[in-house]
Amino acid sequence: MTTASLVNTAISVLRGNDTGVFTKPGPHQYPHQWNWDSALIALGLSHFDLPRAQSEIRALLSGQWQDGMLPSVVYHSIPSDYFPTPQFWQIENSPHAPRVPTTGITQPPLLATVVNIIHTRLPIPDFIREVYPALLRWHRWLHTARDADGTGLACIIHPWESGTDDSPRWLGLLAAMRPEAVPEFLRGDTRYVPAIERPNREEYERFIYLIDVFRKLKYAPAELLAHSPFLVQDILFNAILLRADEDLRTLAVSLGQPTNEIDGWLKSMRLNFNTRFWDESTGLYYDYDVRAGKPIRVNTASTFLPLFAGLPSKTQSERLVEEHLLNPNEYAPAGEVRHWVTTTARTEPTWEARRYWRGPVWIIMNWFLMEGLQRYGYDDLAEIIRQDTLDLIETAGFREYYDARDGSGCGSVDFSWSAALALELSMAPAGHSSR
Ligand code: GLC
Repeated sequence: MTTASLVNTAISVLRGNDTGVFTKPGPHQYPHQWNWDSALIALGLSHFDLPRAQSEIRALLSGQWQDGMLPSVVYHSIPSDYFPTPQFWQIENSPHAPRVPTTGITQPPLLATVVNIIHTRLPIPDFIREVYPALLRWHRWLHTARDADGTGLACIIHPWESGTDDSPRWLGLLAAMRPEAVPEFLRGDTRYVPAIERPNREEYERFIYLIDVFRKLKYAPAELLAHSPFLVQDILFNAILLRADEDLRTLAVSLGQPTNEIDGWLKSMRLNFNTRFWDESTGLYYDYDVRAGKPIRVNTASTFLPLFAGLPSKTQSERLVEEHLLNPNEYAPAGEVRHWVTTTARTEPTWEARRYWRGPVWIIMNWFLMEGLQRYGYDDLAEIIRQDTLDLIETAGFREYYDARDGSGCGSVDFSWSAALALELSMAPAGHSSR
């Protein structure tokens, strides 16, 4: 495929998933508006339709809760066979719920970063003025309603908030849960995608059990922090938040707004991130189980996310890249594995080549990795991963994830963020993002 035809096909995938109000992540599997998908979709749209990129973001912000929470999904009252249904969440029991139907949980806060990248390339000061207050409120909510221990690090309360829903990072915590009762439900996610590429029943039941706990607590933030059986400081989520705080600060400066509140969050996160997550013995970052008060010692590609936020020291970055990313037993293509980068280190017993977040290549993870590598001067390696990512897409199409062995596609077809990131990888100015 030539670059021109890749670009045209990517545009037609985004147009095909466009409902006119928002863009679906995938045509059948994901029929509503997802939070971090939409951020990436807006980034992709900005390459060929800037007004539509802005309306994508407005549509997402229309689901913001009154306390600032930006939900993982905005349903927009579109009928679908998706589960969980909007009714299942019972968000109307919270005084903070918006008028539009949404979930009651959030997702990784990528939006401020995307808004800043777009604004750096194609200045949109009026739009920045319009959306800045909503972004600030969301970040304030993350740094208060989700700060369990005064570190400034945000907690997630559900694996779905991590964006890496079925990651092996969460398996130990899920297995330790003892749900007394799980509400009746009928899964919809295996209707369009083979069960082998989706979460197992045991994990899925616990996903639903957690929602039941939250709706009984009426989504009151303090209650959730006090009682959620799942309470985790996630490296991926916090690295994205820290980078997004920096981007939010840049937007504040461009608007002449005060930055002291954001500076406080940044200071606290920078002070605590490495102490909380870095493991000197292995040279890896590990997530932290706040309930149990201990690290979750599972080696997944999330360990590279701090590079995206400029957090590791030079020595730490070298250990991440040289001992792990380039290690042919863990992440680097070797043997039957031919593509960058598996979502889980292949040394983990939970590694599975085709199951959701257990091993396949995700374009979003490759993009974070490329951005992080460039930030640390590994331009040649970033370029190798860029080429490999585009090759995967050219060969197997815009799939949700890919089998790293033969590059075949898994999960949803015509996946929007794969299309959006294909545009970003082939059309972004050198240096890719705003850094
Ligand atoms: C899955 C992914 C999540 C994504 C959603 C829509 O749930 O795990 O990260 O936002 O699909 O694409």
